Amino acid sequence: MKSVDFTRMKDGTRDEYLFLRDLELEHNKGAADRVLRELGFQAEETLPGYKITRLEHGLQAATRACREGADIDWVVAAVLHDIGDGLAPQNHDHFAAEIIRPFLREEVVWTVEHHGAFQMVYYAHHYGWNRFEREKYQASPYYQSCVDFCERWDQASFDPDYGSEPLDFFAPMVRQVFARKAYDPEVIQKGVVKGLPPLQTQAAE
Ligand SMILES: [Fe+2]
Ligand SMILES: [Fe+2]
Repeated sequence: MKSVDFTRMKDGTRDEYLFLRDLELEHNKGAADRVLRELGFQAEETLPGYKITRLEHGLQAATRACREGADIDWVVAAVLHDIGDGLAPQNHDHFAAEIIRPFLREEVVWTVEHHGAFQMVYYAHHYGWNRFEREKYQASPYYQSCVDFCERWDQASFDPDYGSEPLDFFAPMVRQVFARKAYDPEVIQKGVVKGLPPLQTQAAE
């Protein structure tokens, strides 16, 4: 079978749906490459006016996460957190969260999902908006993680002089997490709060 015969889903046979399921499983394996391709577009189609592209912003955030000793879930989240800027500019945070939700732990996905509201503390007052939008999430166990993600990796990563790792550096990590079993409870770690890695303080001399 090269393709199904039906033109309306309700007319499909069991054999046709088994055929489609096998193709879909193969197709799913390409998700990491498609995600990386979308990130690549952010080198060209990007929000104007900043000193760096959206791709460079994601790479910089992920590089900071990496250098501060963050685990792979945080690093992949940092590189992907603004992937929705092109396709879903009004809800880019939720868009990115849905892409990573099956493969990263809940704390990290929640952080990506809400980072847009938490970032408002840095600029919203300049537009006359409520910069403390984040306060409505204070009851969440992941509140502080999102505060720290924004402070340390997101809002700080618009520097054209920062030496970020290239996308090729992060691609194997993206592929690794997308190869995980989707929604595996051992990956999702529902309710578990790990936070960001502690900041290194310089040892007293
Ligand atoms: Fe964002
Ligand atoms: Fe960002």
